[in-house]
Amino acid sequence: MVYYNSSTKQHPVNEPSKKMDQPLEFYQSLPKVELHRHLEGSIRVETLADIGREHNFPQRDTSTLRPLVQIGKDEPYTFENFLSKFAILRLFYRTPDVIGRITREAIADAAADNVRYLELRFTPVALSKAEGFPLGHVMDWVVDGALAGQEQYGVVTRLIASVNRHESPDLAEQVVWLAMERRNRGIIGLDLAGNEAEFPAQPFEGIFLEAKQEGLGITIHAGEWAGAENIVEAITEFGSSRIGHGVRVLEDETAIALARERKTVFEVCITSNHQSGVVQHLLQHPFPMMLNAGLNATLNTDDPSISKITLSEEYQVACEKLGLPVAMLPERILAAAQAAYLPPEEKAALVERLRNELNEKIPAA
Ligand code: HPA
Ligand code: ZN
Repeated sequence: MVYYNSSTKQHPVNEPSKKMDQPLEFYQSLPKVELHRHLEGSIRVETLADIGREHNFPQRDTSTLRPLVQIGKDEPYTFENFLSKFAILRLFYRTPDVIGRITREAIADAAADNVRYLELRFTPVALSKAEGFPLGHVMDWVVDGALAGQEQYGVVTRLIASVNRHESPDLAEQVVWLAMERRNRGIIGLDLAGNEAEFPAQPFEGIFLEAKQEGLGITIHAGEWAGAENIVEAITEFGSSRIGHGVRVLEDETAIALARERKTVFEVCITSNHQSGVVQHLLQHPFPMMLNAGLNATLNTDDPSISKITLSEEYQVACEKLGLPVAMLPERILAAAQAAYLPPEEKAALVERLRNELNEKIPAA
């Protein structure tokens, strides 16, 4: 059975059962690109425990907190359960220092995993809720944390402001204006996230079109917890060049053809899809089929702390559980870099740096 064929290069086919396993250190050694990572899903459990102690929460040690904010083996793998973790996390955004700290630590953790370019998305409405912080202040604390983290840890970091479908379009509009005011401080994109199964994207269409016109990159969670028609909507109505997840694209030939024609980039997050019930069995994740269908699918984490994963581990899962030949990893990493919402010269420099380094690590690339 052919598991993968690359449009540009031919590689030996790896069937999962005949794979050559590499140690995790090999995947860690690769320079990586992350397009889809939520700040709120990246918070260290140890940091939550510190906040719990500082604020006298009943939840103040990691053993109590871990099951509340991470997906355990025995809990239901449903999107409702997945989203419930974010509701608990909202209780912890208590001070400007906390918001700055979680931003810097998210970048430190990306650096430790050898991520070289990070688009970190954050949800201003969520971060503002517990204390009623003004949205603009919250965004400034994240922006400042990201600038400090980038400087300290050497990861090129850009921010995407995220709004949830299940929250008010009026608040989303405020977020978009505040994001546009902070474009020269690292906010480069806008994301629509949240409960796709029960809330339509349509109320947000005008806001997203405005943001796109003003130069923000657009990405939309679609075809994750609802069908491929949402991917078609994101591409045709919202003008989205990137789709969060989009793994249900394979259910519809028209959606596949459209995404192929528009060269839409899919921000695929394998473990997240398993844990939120999109894909029942990890081994049946459609990432290989998406590539075989000629779609531009990249590998990302979504919520590394909630899922208890790193990007290196996700690359390992793709190679060793789904049969992606290691020789195809450089191409996927470079595809992610090409999809970055960076100005052309910065993007070209990033791609060139990564290409050179990947060539040394995997000479066939
Ligand atoms: N889908 C929708 N909203 C989200 C997700 C997701 O996978 N992760 C964090 N917010
Ligand atoms: Zn996401």
